Amino acid sequence: MTPEEKLEKCYESFKAKIDFKPDVALILGSGLGALADEIDVKAVLNYDEIEGFPLSTVPGHKGRFVFGYIGEVPVVIMQGRVHYYEGYAMQDVVLPTRLMRKMGAEVLFLTNASGAANPDYSAGDFMLISDQISDFVPSPLIGANFESLGVRFPDMSDIYNKELRSVVRNTAKELGIKLQEGVYIQLTGPNFESPAEVRMCRMLGADAIGMSTACEAIAANHAGMKIVGISCVANLGCGLTDTPLTHKEVIEAADKAAPLFKKLIRASIENIYSEILKK
Ligand code: HPA
Repeated sequence: MTPEEKLEKCYESFKAKIDFKPDVALILGSGLGALADEIDVKAVLNYDEIEGFPLSTVPGHKGRFVFGYIGEVPVVIMQGRVHYYEGYAMQDVVLPTRLMRKMGAEVLFLTNASGAANPDYSAGDFMLISDQISDFVPSPLIGANFESLGVRFPDMSDIYNKELRSVVRNTAKELGIKLQEGVYIQLTGPNFESPAEVRMCRMLGADAIGMSTACEAIAANHAGMKIVGISCVANLGCGLTDTPLTHKEVIEAADKAAPLFKKLIRASIENIYSEILKK
């Protein structure tokens, strides 16, 4: 089966079970999954009910799509994503993103937990993603082009949509939530970076480091989605602090930030809908 046929099969599996058209797709990162339990849920689809779907193996990541409403906005939420470091091919890592596009979502709202490369950031900060560096992982577009989704050589000059970013910025201001803005770099993981690697990321122009998101943004941009992303800075990058990093610390930091993060995401999605999508 070609990757495009696999996507088609997953879509058929979804269509056979769920009758829902989302406008916004939301991917929840480490420790942030609880947001999906707080919306007006209309349907749930576990990843293991979808034939051929890549299953997440990370503790703390649930594996399901939740369909429902945030305010009046029809959304599909990925509660748990798959990562390249789990051993999946990049085309599988971005299959869920492409599937949500096929479900009808026009906007992709990406979230993640990250480590700061920018020494001015603090643990618990939120960073609106202005741009990204993805060159340390393979492009998800390598291989035969999905002509049904997009062109062979897609432009990447405005991956994180300017209008959407402006809405999120204004939303944060209204809510009195501090929002950094910067460049996200995706490394493979699963190991955290060495101090020299954090310095390298900084020299390359990155503000936050993580193990997801950029590949999904490339696939979504290829498929013509409008993208916005917020990173929850869970920790300072290695070398910017003396304490060794653990996954537990990342989850705890994300948990702590979650109430405010959820508030920002919900309000941003409602504002994106009323100010951009509905027009
Ligand atoms: N590095 C990479 N990914 C991360 C980090 C980090 O320090 N913290 C949370 N995700």
